[in-house]
Amino acid sequence: MISLIDKLYTDENLEDDLLLELVTQLDTTTVSYLFEKALEKKTVYYKDTVYMRGLIEFTNYCKQNCNYCGIRGKNTKVDRYRLSKEAILNCCDEGYKLGYRTFVLQGGEDPFFTDEVLVDLVEAIKSGYPDCAVTLSVGERSYESYAMLKKAGTDRYLLRHETATKSLYESLHPGMSFENRRNCLYTLKALGYQVGAGFMVGLPNQTPADLVADLRFIKELEPEMVGIGPYIPHDETPLKGATGGTVEETLVMVALARLLLPKALLPSTTAMGTLDPKGREKALKAGANVVMPNLSPTDVREKYELYKDKICTGDEAAHCRQCIEGRIKSAGFRVDMGRGDHASIHIPEEAVSVQIKL
Ligand code: SAM
Ligand code: FES
Repeated sequence: MISLIDKLYTDENLEDDLLLELVTQLDTTTVSYLFEKALEKKTVYYKDTVYMRGLIEFTNYCKQNCNYCGIRGKNTKVDRYRLSKEAILNCCDEGYKLGYRTFVLQGGEDPFFTDEVLVDLVEAIKSGYPDCAVTLSVGERSYESYAMLKKAGTDRYLLRHETATKSLYESLHPGMSFENRRNCLYTLKALGYQVGAGFMVGLPNQTPADLVADLRFIKELEPEMVGIGPYIPHDETPLKGATGGTVEETLVMVALARLLLPKALLPSTTAMGTLDPKGREKALKAGANVVMPNLSPTDVREKYELYKDKICTGDEAAHCRQCIEGRIKSAGFRVDMGRGDHASIHIPEEAVSVQIKL
């Protein structure tokens, strides 16, 4: 196992059958070694920094029906909300004052947010906060839509591929197409976005070979960001009562993703903190380098319940900011409030000086 980890560290790649061996045969000693090497690799490109992003969950309306997701359209128990442009800009304003220079706008696939509405929103954020990066995460859209949003100033787009196994994908996403989701990711890349793919760990019927397929897919796609989190069941979904993923198996995936894509931006997810009070710190120590504290107004937080017992739903933005900063520091890392671009992106001098002046 140790020699396989060393080979992966050096080559930044490993054949599928060897990856499968790693996924299935690690023990306590070798898993610690894997996390150590993943952290060492992260340090090469990002030193001891962890980037902070301000997350705004701006709508929980969704026309899709992902079988695992608490805000799926057919869940009639959800109290639906969508934030107004003014409310979103207020979140950005509060976030900016707290030091954030990246805003992540995430929501369900809400037909209210047409291209026109989203373009207007992105333009307003970019003109109000020109030194900030804007990330969208609003699901599958057309080429034209992604192109318009890019032109409006959107810097990044998060669209997890969820699982790279077609049959598993189709069993979880009624009415959606495996090919379309992947095509969206290739389109976003071609349009010049910094792209975030990613997957859940511990989905019902997911095998170790499926997880290796996820790792192979991200190695081939080379996204700038990879969101990896445990699947956590939600009672008002068709998968109610499922077992869900664990922190331990998710940490292994985070570490392997770091070794396969050394420069990737890897979030330490809220889902990890939900399963284990120290889950986010553990992910940072296994190679993650991004955290996304919540900037959404507290009165809507509980309504964006993707899975049960989601944490941080009662905390003010300033509290979340401080809490997470404390966690990052206690884990031995340094907070970086900058835009936090991918290590391969060159930021123009002008943008850097604007940031320093402030
Ligand atoms: N609608 C957008 C999309 O499809 O990309 C963004 C919102 S969606 C709620 C964000 C992510 O939440 C999904 O990509 C999925 O991986 C994750 N998610 C949904 N339900 C989950 C659950 N029960 N446990 C863990 N993660 C979940
Ligand atoms: Fe649409 Fe979850 S089913 S966000």
